[in-house]
Amino acid sequence: MNFREAADQLNRAEQLDRADPLAPFRDRFVVTDPQTIYLDGNSLGRLPLSTRERLHRAVDEEWGGELVRGWAHWLDIGRAAGDVLAGILGAHQGEVVLADSTSVNLYKLASAALDAVPHRRVIVTEEQNFPTDRYVLQGLAAARGLQLRAVPNVDLAAALDDGTALLCLSHVDFRTGAVADLPGLTAAAHRVGAMVLWDLCHSAGVLPVGLAGAAVDLAVGCTYKHLHAGPGAPAFLYVRRDLQDRLRQPIWGWFGQADQFAMGEAYHPVPGIERFLAGTPGVLGGYAAWEGARLTAEAGVPAIAAKARALGRYAIELSDAWLAPLGFSVASPRADHRRGAQVALRHPEAWRVCQALLDQRVVPDFRTPDLLRLGLAPLYTRFVDVHTGLSRLRDLVLAGRHLDYPEAHARVT
Ligand SMILES: Cc1ncc(COP(=O)(O)O)c(C=O)c1O
Repeated sequence: MNFREAADQLNRAEQLDRADPLAPFRDRFVVTDPQTIYLDGNSLGRLPLSTRERLHRAVDEEWGGELVRGWAHWLDIGRAAGDVLAGILGAHQGEVVLADSTSVNLYKLASAALDAVPHRRVIVTEEQNFPTDRYVLQGLAAARGLQLRAVPNVDLAAALDDGTALLCLSHVDFRTGAVADLPGLTAAAHRVGAMVLWDLCHSAGVLPVGLAGAAVDLAVGCTYKHLHAGPGAPAFLYVRRDLQDRLRQPIWGWFGQADQFAMGEAYHPVPGIERFLAGTPGVLGGYAAWEGARLTAEAGVPAIAAKARALGRYAIELSDAWLAPLGFSVASPRADHRRGAQVALRHPEAWRVCQALLDQRVVPDFRTPDLLRLGLAPLYTRFVDVHTGLSRLRDLVLAGRHLDYPEAHARVT
């Protein structure tokens, strides 16, 4: 590419940023090194300024000042944040609450669903589903003597029958960003009388989910990616209102107990979504999830999703022009409506390229065996970031700099 073409490309990225209605939201996040291109918001979102401020207050004034009296208002955080999340996920108030981790919530809700239909002996999932989901389902199937059918994506609908208790899937594929047909697969499960449990980790806060519109039974998801709640922040769970009082989760903890502080002898689960809680919630993480959800709701999911599509289109366009000749191919769906807020690039040296990029101050991530995953979090990723990140990638591969890095795979989160 000559100098003129390079300048035109950069101008175009700058124009797209000027036309971006969400551009001001970038200033609402902590950015300590403007030279670093952060393309990993789908692993860990950036820190919102308002969250930093809220946590300072919570630590200094509430924990430091109020001590145990703080529980008078801390107890409501999970439900208050859940109600903001319900708006983001297209659910009703009272159907979402913060609790535990995604893995633990998946276990609780899958167990509850299986207990509700003991005569049905099959769990269906997708063979490439996120590892923790597959492992939790494997554990449940082993403990109960059930069959776990882990099938390729295209065979999901055919794998359902009147022996199926539960269909458990991820809304967005963590590797490629491919979006599953949530309404269609939910309807297919319902046609055979099965319940459906969706993992929304990669769609919550960044894509329209439409839980109520699709009559989804159950869902879980994390808050540390596109809800910007920070490392280890509590996850959320959703249970459709008409199912709440019919289902019983397996951890009969005191936070799910009616009249918790009566400390009664027997467990009687409270009506409503709180019966899916177990133990004492993490208050600081809860504030961070609440604040991240508020910021997301303020920007609005339709605008966020529109920018995710535009960023993805732009990344694919640059990849086709610059990276395809260097052996990269686009592993994510090209159709906008089928892609989440990420673009995955396939390359046989993806691991070494990823290490070299980190040294060029571009932060993507690697997914085994050959994917470079570029997260495009719409609230703080600019089109110029995509341009700069991919031009650094192109230049280093052109110069063969990635070949200086060892081939061994190490663990990256
Ligand atoms: C689809 C999906 N499910 C679950 C998890 C993780 O669950 P947990 O927060 O319990 O570790 C992730 C983490 O990246 C994920 O991408």
